[in-house]
Amino acid sequence: MSTISPISSEALLKGRKKITTKSFQQKKISGNPITMLTAYDYPTALIMDRVGIDSILIGDSLGMVVLGYENTLPVTMEEMLHHCRAVARGAHYALLIGDMPFLSYQVSIENAVRNAGRFLQEAGMEAVKLEGGRERVEAIRAIISAGIPVMGHLGLTPQSVNLFGGFRAQGKTASAAKRLYEDALLLQDAGCFSLVLESVPDRLAELVSQKLEIPTIGIGAGNGCDGQVLVTHDLLGLFDRFTPKFVRKYADFYTEMERAFDAYQIDVETGSFPASEHTVDMPEEEWKELLEEIRF
Ligand code: KIV
Repeated sequence: MSTISPISSEALLKGRKKITTKSFQQKKISGNPITMLTAYDYPTALIMDRVGIDSILIGDSLGMVVLGYENTLPVTMEEMLHHCRAVARGAHYALLIGDMPFLSYQVSIENAVRNAGRFLQEAGMEAVKLEGGRERVEAIRAIISAGIPVMGHLGLTPQSVNLFGGFRAQGKTASAAKRLYEDALLLQDAGCFSLVLESVPDRLAELVSQKLEIPTIGIGAGNGCDGQVLVTHDLLGLFDRFTPKFVRKYADFYTEMERAFDAYQIDVETGSFPASEHTVDMPEEEWKELLEEIRF
């Protein structure tokens, strides 16, 4: 029998209270902004949890910033679940939200519920996010009735990039803004615990946030939302293909990694790495015995 006792969730939380969908609601009521970032791996999740980021979204942006796809459309359920598991091993404080990939919830209601359930049953997630408005209400209701919290996503929904003709801001005309506003109310009525608003005019996002009882999380939607999310690789300056206008870069990891890899390459080629402090010693008498044994 193993003598190692499992680490309790209290110990992993280090005295902090676990963030839940209820905490999201409380933050909205108290006017404290919700912090959310994307993560796709264990070390990043560990650091975010240590800092106390409220929520980690394992976004299907995974496809672009980690897997090198052109857009998010090729991302599969298996790829999402694999990365969700890695994040769940590192994060115990943040609310963990798995992003449902393209065609995992659009084909049928039954398929949507099964796939949403896999995020909780197989990958340690506590909620799912999916894109779209009125056309998704039925699927959202079914997922929630299976006991799975759902976060909505309106505005620039990247899985519809081909309908939009590119990664373009949404809701800029009165009619588009009205449609988005109505969709937000419908998603709230369907039971979503929160909504992402992506790339929409700041005054529209603020209006929607004021009208809704559930919290909104903005990305490129100004600071009138109840919280903010960014793609972590954008924030770290690690994704060099393009940087959306709404990103603030908090670091330049691309340049820093380039510098480190370059320095390593030079050190190996010039023989300055590994140095004596990186090597393993062998006692002199053992070495002599070896040379005698093999008659070297
Ligand atoms: O996939 C993702 O990272 C997202 C965020 C941009 C909200 O959906």
